[in-house]
Amino acid sequence: MQSLVSSLGPVAAIIGTQWGDEGKGKVTDVLGGYYDVIARACGGANAGHTIVVGGKKHVFRLLPSGCLHEDKVVVLGSGMVIHIPTLLEEINLLKLSGIDITKRLKISGAAHIVFDYHKEIDGVLEGRREQAIGTTKKGIGPAYMDKAARIGIRMERIHEDLRLELRKRSETMMQMYGVRIDVDAETNALVQARGVVGSCIVPSLPALMMQYASEKRSILIEGAQAALLDIDHGTYPFVTSSATTVAGALQGLGLSPRTLTGCVGVTKAYCTRVGEGAFPGEQSGERGERLRERGGEYGSVTKRPRRCGWLSIPDLQQSLFMNGCTHVNLTKLDVLDEEESIPVLLRLKPNGTPVFSYRPGWRTSTAGMTHYEDLPTQAKAFIEFLENELQTPIAMIGTGQPSEHVILR
Ligand code: IMP
Repeated sequence: MQSLVSSLGPVAAIIGTQWGDEGKGKVTDVLGGYYDVIARACGGANAGHTIVVGGKKHVFRLLPSGCLHEDKVVVLGSGMVIHIPTLLEEINLLKLSGIDITKRLKISGAAHIVFDYHKEIDGVLEGRREQAIGTTKKGIGPAYMDKAARIGIRMERIHEDLRLELRKRSETMMQMYGVRIDVDAETNALVQARGVVGSCIVPSLPALMMQYASEKRSILIEGAQAALLDIDHGTYPFVTSSATTVAGALQGLGLSPRTLTGCVGVTKAYCTRVGEGAFPGEQSGERGERLRERGGEYGSVTKRPRRCGWLSIPDLQQSLFMNGCTHVNLTKLDVLDEEESIPVLLRLKPNGTPVFSYRPGWRTSTAGMTHYEDLPTQAKAFIEFLENELQTPIAMIGTGQPSEHVILR
């Protein structure tokens, strides 16, 4: 692991290369121990990763997976949209297990607040669309709408009395969306937040990042969502509302691109998607079902069954390029253990028909393997085929849920 960390360098990012749920949480958790600062940059409670606290599994949506590492500074970046009750709930859950994260939590004052009315508007907008996006209904799009319209309320304002402003806004929201703001509930949440995270608010995140850089502190950036869900470069309009690339993460943290020394592109050995939008490698029927069951492919936030299918080389090449990935973490290899042959999408014909290369399966268990040489020949051939197509070293291979079920190369 130490040699991987050395080759990633002191400022590294972890970015999903598909449509999310690639297993970023596990690699962040493993790498987190080697970095001083663990930062989330964009997105909000639409993300979800399972964290085991006090022997019990919890889905965390805002705090990065690496937050359990003691003594690490945890940053919530300016590009984020933060739902205060969710944040307080996560902080409280950690507290019940004896972890006081507020002592080392830095929240950008420029991060926007997601109010409950944003969630309601999310639902209203989905209902009004001719074709729904299949959002997580966490209010992400509407919070970024307010941000872009420059009427958003940022974390730096939690110390203010926002009653009057929210009352006025409630009238407008009623006219536009038929949504009323529960001003008392929202202001109560703000008051509560002041007590818990008031001292965590950072007035200028770029200034803090500059300080960390001058102190030579190492930083691990935990990307949220994934490249193909990016607002600019993803399959618009079936995307999220933030920039999910490494460039978006650097922007969201106010961190210079010149500081970045490495980027891990997290890629599942097959592909999944939640919500609507194109998915040329999608596999409905028995094989898709098998991937879903073997991979436990159900949304961690929404519990929706994920659409399952095969890898797409052109999509991956583009994701790795956009994010300047220096390494690939191939996750969930063991989910393919039962496949007789594994299709990999090479290109689309002009009429949109996918062209697959069929790679031989290995039909034996790779679960829990930790040494590359122990893998079946066909599994090694599959990995080397991908590596050749992607022209990026596959440095980590996941073979099971526990963090020790990983092959380092
Ligand atoms: P929103 O981010 O809730 O607006 O949802 C927009 C699209 O992004 C929907 O298709 C969601 O299913 C998808 N999405 C958002 N966050 C995630 C994630 O963390 N994993 C997988 N899909 C996501």
